[in-house]
Amino acid sequence: MGTIPSLSEAQALLEEYNQEEFHLRHAKIVSEVLGYFAGEYDSERVEFWKVVGLLHDLDFEQYPEQHCIKSQEIMRERGIDESVIHATASHGWQLTVDIEPASTMEKILYATDELTGLIGAVAIMRPSKSVQDLELKSVKKKFKSANFAAGCSREVISRGAELLGWPLDELIIRTIEAMRTIEGC
Ligand SMILES: [Fe+2]
Repeated sequence: MGTIPSLSEAQALLEEYNQEEFHLRHAKIVSEVLGYFAGEYDSERVEFWKVVGLLHDLDFEQYPEQHCIKSQEIMRERGIDESVIHATASHGWQLTVDIEPASTMEKILYATDELTGLIGAVAIMRPSKSVQDLELKSVKKKFKSANFAAGCSREVISRGAELLGWPLDELIIRTIEAMRTIEGC
């Protein structure tokens, strides 16, 4: 049994491998979104879900070619528990690794990772620059416009909704609601 880092340990490890503000902010957003859903599905382990959110892209800034592979190595060297390693690596399923999201947490991470980016990109174009008054239809419109925030894979988002068994609209609405709880979103 390895160790499960605390939130502050996870944050320190994240900052050891990531300097770019964009990446640090993405890690925080995904962490908070997972924490929000943990409140509903796994309320005893909110911190664990948030730690996974913070660490899910640990290797992306320095090792983009080995995304979700290098991170496993780094975390194993540090004695981090396999549950964290599996959960973080599984969001690279069918992209760089063959680790399928299995738990509800892993499926939510997979489904919301790219979607939070898309929602954030839609929100920033609004006068409020906020998700607080953002509606499903605005996100849906941009979801269908492939050139908008093209880096946010619609395929991954759709596959994530399928994994969860949630209609796409439900996934988007619930992710907007999760993001509304984050300060500055
Ligand atoms: Fe990510």
